[in-house]
Amino acid sequence: MKKTSCIFTLLLFTILLTAGCSKGKDPGVSLPGPIPVGPAQTMDSAEFEPAGMCQYCHLEIYEQWQGSMHALAFTNPVYQAEAQKTSRETDGAADAFCASCHAPIGFLAQEIPPADGSKLSEVARRGISCDFCHTITEVSADGNASYRVSPGIVKYGPFNDPLHTPLHDSEYSSIYNEAEFCATCHEVTNPQTGLVLGATYSEWKTSGFAPKRATCQDCHMTPGPGVTKPNPGYAATGVPKKREHTWTHSMVGGNVFNLEQAGFDGHALQAKENLQAAATLFLGLPQTLSPYQGANINVRVRNSGAGHSLPTGLTMFKEMWLEVVVTDEKGNVLYQNGVLDQNGAVPDGSVVYKTTVADASGKETTNLWEAASVIYDRRIPPQKYVDEFFEIPGAPLPGKITVQARLLYRSVSQEKANQVLGNGMAGVTVVEMAKLSGEISVR
Ligand code: HEC
Ligand code: HEC
Ligand code: HEC
Ligand code: HEC
Ligand code: HEC
Repeated sequence: MKKTSCIFTLLLFTILLTAGCSKGKDPGVSLPGPIPVGPAQTMDSAEFEPAGMCQYCHLEIYEQWQGSMHALAFTNPVYQAEAQKTSRETDGAADAFCASCHAPIGFLAQEIPPADGSKLSEVARRGISCDFCHTITEVSADGNASYRVSPGIVKYGPFNDPLHTPLHDSEYSSIYNEAEFCATCHEVTNPQTGLVLGATYSEWKTSGFAPKRATCQDCHMTPGPGVTKPNPGYAATGVPKKREHTWTHSMVGGNVFNLEQAGFDGHALQAKENLQAAATLFLGLPQTLSPYQGANINVRVRNSGAGHSLPTGLTMFKEMWLEVVVTDEKGNVLYQNGVLDQNGAVPDGSVVYKTTVADASGKETTNLWEAASVIYDRRIPPQKYVDEFFEIPGAPLPGKITVQARLLYRSVSQEKANQVLGNGMAGVTVVEMAKLSGEISVR
């Protein structure tokens, strides 16, 4: 990691923060001009090779990548709707900012703005593509697209003994194995208000995973959930040398919904398995109760599998919540909490893990560009647990009552999906991350 880009970003931040402070009190005013972001590099998009080119020799990696949220980062309809709305409301001032991570080649080539992608080249439309990532030469943990790239004949990667290929030169770079490589985009700060919107890297950095050097790649670039298992294989089609370890490129997180919508069912299933490996539940119940005797029951939720908070990233769009249902022997519901209402919304009074942000006047918003403060933050740090308590009423008759707790997740709330994708659309996929039941005997 080189220092130049860090210094540059810091400098930029100072300028932006000062600008942000002077107008912070007047949330109604539109932005003064384009928000300058990231590195001061510009280049033609034709300098980047299309992913289809890499496909010839890296077929497996290509198939993994094409169904990843990286390949879909620009075309993803939830992003599109949000980016268009942002563009309208800011007169295009935040277009380049959003594109710097979601369509980095389009950002570097100044093909965005306009935000609608009408000037976007085909190579840029495919989001975070092979030749973008493999020409990165500098990154910084500050995030906000603080990368520098050198597109050309040299592809940088994890091997210091690359086999020869006529198509490109290969060079080892240590940054590919570092969490900071991912931090360059997975650490998101509003440059105008200075509010940290997503801090996956910082969460990881302060967790027990950082000293153990269990990086993002160790969990997100291996087959199946969990920290690195060796994944021996060939890095290109038809090469003679088998590598002790190769890295997978589906890079699933928790987004099942968008992958299903885009028709990548295999990737969606992997994301589901990832979510189901992230948390464990524990139930603290009394063994017996008398008729009509209520109880305060305990549901413990442990972040047992993620290397960052649960959930992480831009959690103003996401929802993770507890559903608790108590039934008697006949199946009559005695108590429920967190059961979706008829509109598919998580009802008030539920235990929801997410963040909520407000604009400078303190009004709740999901507009990233005007987010100035965090007004609600309930998430589970890596390797930690939280205890939740539910006051359940007494059962009138002797017998057994069953308590069922489920931890549920969706990558975007139904309300937001209706708002951006239209009301007629299908429900957002809800994934059951964990489920546990217990019995109490009433006598
Ligand atoms: C988001 C950035 C990113 C994208 C997009 C990406 N890669 Fe990678 N790739 C990496 C990283 C990081 C590693 C090495 C991980 C490590 O060393 O821990 C890697 C490793 C590799 C390797 C080394 C050998 C192997 O099998 O693991 C090859 C080859 C490769 N990528 C090719 C591609 C191709 C081809 C594409 C597009 C189809 C692509 N990559 C897309 C980040 C990316
Ligand atoms: C003609 C076949 C061919 C094409 C096309 C091709 N590669 Fe490769 N690539 C290879 C071979 C062979 C290796 C060496 C594999 C090894 O050393 O095990 C390799 C290695 C790599 C590495 C690892 C470099 C290192 O030192 O770690 C990266 C990254 C990479 N390719 C990226 C790309 C990208 C991006 C594209 C598309 C722009 C691409 N390749 C197109 C054949 C190809
Ligand atoms: C110990 C394994 C592990 C490590 C290390 C790890 N992750 Fe994750 N990550 C997970 C699991 C499991 C999930 C699924 C649960 C979830 O969605 O939070 C996940 C989810 C995500 C998501 C989806 C966000 C969400 O909450 O819906 C993103 C983005 C992500 N990881 C990025 C990263 C980055 C960037 C790093 C490094 C700074 C990293 N991860 C390190 C295991 C890991
Ligand atoms: C150029 C910026 C960039 C880089 C570099 C980058 N990412 Fe991402 N990543 C994104 C964006 C943008 C998305 C979200 C796309 C969307 O949801 O529209 C994303 C999505 C993801 C997701 C899926 C999130 C979900 O909700 O399911 C995971 C997991 C992830 N990245 C991991 C990584 C890891 C690991 C690395 C480092 C090896 C990395 N990323 C490097 C920009 C980047
Ligand atoms: C510094 C990089 C970065 C910038 C800048 C950025 N994003 Fe993202 N965005 C991400 C990453 C990474 C994810 C996915 C994982 C997560 O939640 O952290 C994401 C996810 C999203 C999602 C959720 C997509 C889904 O499928 O649920 C939306 C919507 C979004 N971004 C909109 C925007 C808008 C609008 C802007 C500009 C105001 C913007 N982003 C700027 C990195 C960035």
